[in-house]
Formats: sequence, C-alpha cells, structure tokens
Amino acid sequence: MKKLNIALLGFGTVGKGIFKTIETHQKHLMQVLGKPVDITKIVVKNIDKHSDLKRKRQLTTNFQEVLSHPDINVVFEAIVGVEPAFSYAKAALQSGKHVITANKEMFAHHGKELKTIAKENNVKIGFEATTGGGIPIIQTIEQLLQVNQINKVTAILNGTSNYILSEMREKKLTFTSVLAEAQALGYAEADPTNDIEAIDAFYKLMILSDHIYGKQPHWHFVKRQGIQQITKEQISELQKQHRRIKSIGTLELVNGQIEARVEPMIIDERHPLFAIEGVDNAITIEGSIVGELTLLGPGAGAFPTASAMIEDLSTILTSQQTQLTKQVEKVLD
Ligand code: NDP
Ligand code: HSE
Repeated sequence: MKKLNIALLGFGTVGKGIFKTIETHQKHLMQVLGKPVDITKIVVKNIDKHSDLKRKRQLTTNFQEVLSHPDINVVFEAIVGVEPAFSYAKAALQSGKHVITANKEMFAHHGKELKTIAKENNVKIGFEATTGGGIPIIQTIEQLLQVNQINKVTAILNGTSNYILSEMREKKLTFTSVLAEAQALGYAEADPTNDIEAIDAFYKLMILSDHIYGKQPHWHFVKRQGIQQITKEQISELQKQHRRIKSIGTLELVNGQIEARVEPMIIDERHPLFAIEGVDNAITIEGSIVGELTLLGPGAGAFPTASAMIEDLSTILTSQQTQLTKQVEKVLD
C-alpha cells in the first residue's frame, strides 16, 4: 500500500507533538486518509540535539532534501520566526507540496502571499495552528460561518499570558516565577518577549483579520500593550471586587474600517472571557445571524497544536479526494 510521505520542519515542542501524534494515531489516520503516514524527513537546526531519534536517516539540516524528494507531498512547518520559514513554505508550495504551518509570526507577515502561491500551484496551505492553539477557529470561520457577517471578535489569544495572570491570582505567585513555569511547560515562545508584550496575540489577531475581512489594519495603528507591568497586588485587589484582568485582543468593523487592539482589560463575571483560565484561549465572535458565540480550548502546548495541524492534514487530503471524485463524475456525465 502506498504511504503518505510527510516532512517536519522543526523538532521542538510542536514538531515532537506532531511526531508522537502520528505514532499514536496511525490507525485513525489510516481510516481517515486511507493510507499510513510516514515521517520521511525531519529538518532541524542542530542535529546533535536529536541523537536519540531511532531513524537517523530522517534527520537533516538541509531543506533541499525535502524539496527534491519526489514522494513528499506534505510539509509541516514548526520552526521559529519569519525566516527561513517563509522561504521554505513558499518553495514547498511552488514545488507542489501542501504546507501546514504553526508559525504565526511568519504567517502574519506572509499569509496572504502564501495563500495566493498555494492557489496558483493547486495545493493548500493549512494554518489552523497559528491561532488559538487547539481551537478550530480558522475552519469554523471558513466552513461554518460563510453567510454570517462577523462584526466583532473579542479574544484571549496567548496561552502564556493567560496562564501567568491566572496563576498569579490563584497561587499568589510572582510574574517571573510563573513565566519560568510556562516556558518549562512548552507554552511560551523561545523568546517569551512575544508572549508577554502581546506581540504573539497581535500576530494572531492579524491572521484572523486577514481570514475574516481579507485584509489587515495598518500595523502602526494597532494598539498593543503587554502584561509585564501587572503586579500580584493589583490582581488581588481586583479579585476582592470579583473582577479579573485579562490580555484581550479586539477586532471590529467601525464604519467599514477594521480596528484592532491587544491590551490588558479589567472584566467582571458577566464578560464571556472572565472564566477563561490557565493556558486556555477563547474567541468570542459576533455574527450577524448567530449573535454571540464563544469557542474555547487549550491555546498552546505540544498536543493541542498537533491536533490543529493533524486536522488540517485531514481536511486538505479529504477535500482533495472530494475534488478528484467530482472531476471524475463530471467526465463520466
Ligand atoms: P521550539 O523552539 O521548541 O522548536 C523549534 C524547532 O525549530 C527546533 O527543533 C529547531 O531546531 C528548529 N529550527 C529553528 N530554526 C531552524 C532553522 N533555521 N532550520 C531548521 N530548523 C530550525 O519551538 P516550538 O516547537 O514551541 O514552536 C515552533 C513554531 O510553532 C513556532 O513558530 C511557534 O510560534 C509555533 N507555535 C508554538 C506553540 C507552542 O505551544 N509551543 C503553539 C502554536 C504555535 P533544533 O531543535 O535543532 O534547535
Ligand atoms: N506562545 C504561544 C502562546 C504558543 O502562549 O499562546 C501558542 O501559539
């Protein structure tokens, strides 16, 4: 039986999460995709860090080995930063390989261009994992909210910040000690500045803006304020008043213009994001027909992210199958 050959770019928290998920869900993948999935290549920066990997031939530092491999159909991109991730994703799409990425920094900068390149090359780019961790927000918007006009999005989009604020309140811990914990748990970015200064949430909000409205607001006009100034005394004081402080991203249409901001907000129990705790993320959407709905779930970590990426794989391959069937039916008609 033919296998589905895939490549992993990056073998850190997310890359290892995908690796283990493919191992543990091989039977399910077989049922859904109709063939086994083989991780043919894994591209890393430093091979010596990965000497415990059993199949040594999988590992490489040379992306060209993926690009020139005729049997690799899908590339999972889970490395850090804009480059070389963007160049790798672009080249993979141009050579007819589907790409599934978790890299929000890269995708906020170049998502639009990659979507166009994918279309031109008759392949797909999956980016569910870039926004909201394991929450299927991208596919929900794409497949289930096609007629609703989305007027406003209010969201907790960074697991690390939400974890820090929750732990500081519940366990009366300091900012620095909880940040170290979030790093050890694999929630925080390699450089956590992006998490605590709301840069990561900003990227996710820009990806949502592109996805919902087809464009982003000018980055210069988006207010972005992090959580590093918030003290545990402030949090305790708010707790006494039954209020909480959360890092919240807002995206809305105001007189036809997109307005966006990410900032700490003080909210009370009536707010839909009040109860979102720990590493969870949540996205509240105001749709023109449905009204207000909130999706919530784990916003960071190896397996929530792997879940989003594996579901992208299934969507891409099953929709390709449906397309092929339709083409055959048309020819036979
Ligand atoms: P890690 O730092 O744990 O792993 C990064 C991996 O990328 C490492 O294996 C590293 O190689 C590899 N890498 C870095 N630079 C290069 C390069 N130039 N060429 C080849 N490989 C390279 O990061 P994460 O796994 O946490 O995150 C990966 C991506 O997923 C990031 O873009 C992140 O923003 C995103 N993401 C992370 C989530 C999380 O919860 N951690 C959730 C959702 C998205 P080596 O091992 O040799 O150093
Ligand atoms: N560092 C990110 C977070 C990972 O904490 O939300 C998920 O995108």
